[in-house]
Amino acid sequence: MKTLPMAFILALLATLPVLGVPLAREAFATDQNTNATLRDVNASGRPAFTGADGLTVQEAPPIPKDATDDRRRQRNYPEQPPVIPHQIVGYQLDLRANKCLTCHAREFTGDSQAPMISVTHFQDRDGQVLGAVSARRYFCLQCHVPQADIQPRVTNGFRDVDRVIREAIPPANGGQ
Ligand code: HEC
Ligand code: HEC
Repeated sequence: MKTLPMAFILALLATLPVLGVPLAREAFATDQNTNATLRDVNASGRPAFTGADGLTVQEAPPIPKDATDDRRRQRNYPEQPPVIPHQIVGYQLDLRANKCLTCHAREFTGDSQAPMISVTHFQDRDGQVLGAVSARRYFCLQCHVPQADIQPRVTNGFRDVDRVIREAIPPANGGQ
């Protein structure tokens, strides 16, 4: 008869999560509607514990088109990877093939008129200059990205170094 109390304790333990749900709902409730049942919460499609009122489905806006006007963009600082001003849809870029290098590798720039990958792209991590693109610069899209003509979601207060210097140095006439 030793197994009976054991089975009882196990059964009790098994109910614990269920007992915990109403308590946790209370603790994490974010609105006043505490009368909502668990079924209401599930029907709302929201994660449990956040209250019950309906769910608004917002459609994602269409993905904007990349800028493809072939005009090279000014960099914000000298070390910035320049952004891509042309179409790259469907360009293969994996272990087998690198479409970007068919124009940007040194030996093809005469025909393609694309700017050559700069010397940093030939350096390994010890600064040793290699004969071809270094493995750490092989996957171009890690650093170079296309642009789209859209408003940023978060405003950007970046000021480039020329502006910082201009604003830091008082005008020669002492501001008169
Ligand atoms: C068909 C040839 C071609 C291919 C393929 C190509 N590019 Fe280009 N790329 C160019 C040319 C030409 C320019 C000069 C601007 C222009 O005409 O669009 C350029 C410009 C750029 C620039 C701007 C450089 C600067 O100084 O502003 C970047 C960055 C760039 N490409 C990255 C890439 C990446 C990454 C890929 C692969 C996903 C790629 N390109 C594939 C031809 C090519
Ligand atoms: C780890 C980041 C990184 C990767 C990966 C990378 N680049 Fe760059 N790239 C840069 C940076 C940073 C610059 C600007 C400074 C410089 O020239 O090193 C640059 C500059 C360039 C330029 C302009 C060169 C010039 O002299 O104006 C081209 C073109 C370019 N990259 C193409 C490519 C292509 C094509 C690939 C893929 C084979 C690639 N990059 C991979 C970071 C990267």
